Amino acid sequence: MSRKIFVTTALPYSNGPFHIGHIMEYIQADIWVRFQRMQGNRLHFVCADDAHGAPIMLKAEEEGISPQQLIARIAAGRPRYLEGFHLSFDHWHSTDSPENVELSQDVYQRLKREGLIYLKPVEQFFDPVKGMFLPDRYIRGECPNCHAKEQYADACEVCSIVNTPTQLINPYSTLTGAKPVLKTSDHFFFKLSEPKCVRFLEEWLGAAGRLQPQVVNKAREWLTGKGDQALGDWDISRDAPYFGIPIPDAPGKYFYVWLDAPIGYLAALKSYFALGKARANGEPRSFEAFLAAPDTEQIHFIGKDIIYFHTLFWPAMLKFAGAPYRVPNHVYVHGFITVSGEKMSKSRGTGISPLRYLDLGMNAEWLRYYIAAKLNANVEDLDFNPDDFVARVNSDLVGKYVNIASRIAPFLLKFFGNRMPPLAMTQIAGVPVEAVGCLRFALQQSKLVRTALEERELGKAIRLTMEVADVVNAEIDAYKPWLLAKDAATNEQSRQKLGKICAASIAAFKALTLFLKPIVPALAADAEAYLRDQPLQWDSLDLRLGVEGFLPAGHEFGIFKPLITRVDPKQLDALFESDAQPVAGNRPATPPQPGPGGVTAGAAAVSIDEFKRIDLRVARILDAQHVDGADKLLKLTLDLGSETRTVFAGIKSAYDPEALKGRLTVMVANLAPRKMKFGVSEGMVLAASGDTPGLYLLSPDAGATPGMRIS
Ligand code: 2FM
Ligand code: ZN
Repeated sequence: MSRKIFVTTALPYSNGPFHIGHIMEYIQADIWVRFQRMQGNRLHFVCADDAHGAPIMLKAEEEGISPQQLIARIAAGRPRYLEGFHLSFDHWHSTDSPENVELSQDVYQRLKREGLIYLKPVEQFFDPVKGMFLPDRYIRGECPNCHAKEQYADACEVCSIVNTPTQLINPYSTLTGAKPVLKTSDHFFFKLSEPKCVRFLEEWLGAAGRLQPQVVNKAREWLTGKGDQALGDWDISRDAPYFGIPIPDAPGKYFYVWLDAPIGYLAALKSYFALGKARANGEPRSFEAFLAAPDTEQIHFIGKDIIYFHTLFWPAMLKFAGAPYRVPNHVYVHGFITVSGEKMSKSRGTGISPLRYLDLGMNAEWLRYYIAAKLNANVEDLDFNPDDFVARVNSDLVGKYVNIASRIAPFLLKFFGNRMPPLAMTQIAGVPVEAVGCLRFALQQSKLVRTALEERELGKAIRLTMEVADVVNAEIDAYKPWLLAKDAATNEQSRQKLGKICAASIAAFKALTLFLKPIVPALAADAEAYLRDQPLQWDSLDLRLGVEGFLPAGHEFGIFKPLITRVDPKQLDALFESDAQPVAGNRPATPPQPGPGGVTAGAAAVSIDEFKRIDLRVARILDAQHVDGADKLLKLTLDLGSETRTVFAGIKSAYDPEALKGRLTVMVANLAPRKMKFGVSEGMVLAASGDTPGLYLLSPDAGATPGMRIS
């Protein structure tokens, strides 16, 4: 009986392009989805842009466009990534859609009827100039603890203390600079603390196999009030102006973006049905019938930062909204991606730009393979390490798997008319299998690989697969087909032995292609073209039929073409160097032209407040070193008075490191750290450059000392 599954990944905000964290999640889900499809399960894989909320509204305003224009622009950029990384979503929608308005309002009204919605006055900072309530991130002020200026309330960057916006001294709105005033307004709340909600969640979280154990533990801490985010009722409304969905019968009130975002999963599904795409994908039922059916499975892949929403609010909303809504069957949580051990920021991503990856012509299959190799079913962070990436792709994917076909295909062509040679059958435990060990091993291992893929133990699936590839390559080495080939034309025994190793190896290669197909679908498609076969499904491999049922003697192969190239480590250098901001003086592609008012075109005017946010400091270069493998960079150790920093600067063409040691320069001290291939760059030194070659580091006049602020 085939499963009927509806799978989603977390909806990305419409305020920027995908970062590598998004791509990692999509790859993880896509592998699982493809694996399910290969088993004949009926699966609908959808996602959407998370388009609402104050940040998107304000960003659009800053750019002088409407929020709809902003989200349309972001949406237009999505296919490049989705196609580029071979992500097989069946539909991509938006939360700013009629389906989402309808479903969000419907869910809300059902919850209201259940007695789970109430109104409560909330006192909040209000920007009197802008005429809007301010989300915390738009308020800055002086830290009441260490008196550092221009701090956000959530965590002071200097002393790390967590404040509330009302605790900040001299708070100001970052939107207008105005002093915010406290103002009260009625907000709608979802009563998560209601005993029936709590009882339901206890039971939902307790269901065996629904969630990963770490996720259950975390959610239980919140539910029982012991966690860092103890259970409270949920503020689900925001006041106008807001870019969101209006709350019925409540003029000027909108749903908070986190209410309509998960409902966006269902809106995406509904639109997918409405467009006839579900039907084309073999689903005969309507959206409502599909959703309400007891055998439908609803599965969400998400990151660990949004467990709270997905394991408390979301199931409770669905449960009490009632049929056809259904509670999720599983929420599968992954960790973050780090680069060489460094954490990434959610908004900035890491030093790896997925678009840059594609633009450099790097193969998406390499990244899919590498990410899979590092993923397991736990909520663990995944570290992208450039050397490890090169090693795994080149040694394992290319060196072990692809190499089998490259080694064997020429013999098949030359000695066997490009056809499958016969293999003597034998019985093992009553099952007919091949006498050649590597093939037997491949067939036996298939069950374990299948289980690992099902359980999202992708790293394990790859390890099991590579164990088979190792055995196949070892057997090829042992048989030495290149020696057998020397007299195979005249010696029947050599020819038979050659046929046997070729047959076993190529059949094992076919099994390996099956194992790897969800992970590297484009590579597998090329392998299938060579094998000249139907698209591989899991039931293509039936142990009871042995090799005859899998790859019968006499089967003709296609023309063998090299299946994939190796990674050139230089590509990794390019991937990381592109993100470096070595010196501020780097020449723009078009030199700026003087514009009106003395402001150069190509550089928009900034306010004095904006300028003041850049922390420029005098720094002494304590040490300067060449960086192995980097053409343009020098590694600088800078003394900032109270601390030292490491900065990778693109000044190698202009400076001998020895000549730099001891001199003073100017650095941007509050530039967010950037992860580069060679380490983390903790700032930027400033240099001048013009139309002619040359790069000139800035220096302060005599008397300046390290750490002095430049203003
Ligand atoms: O954290 C985020 O990026 C949100 N946009 C995720 C939303 S997931 C779902 F609820 F829509
Ligand atoms: Zn502080």
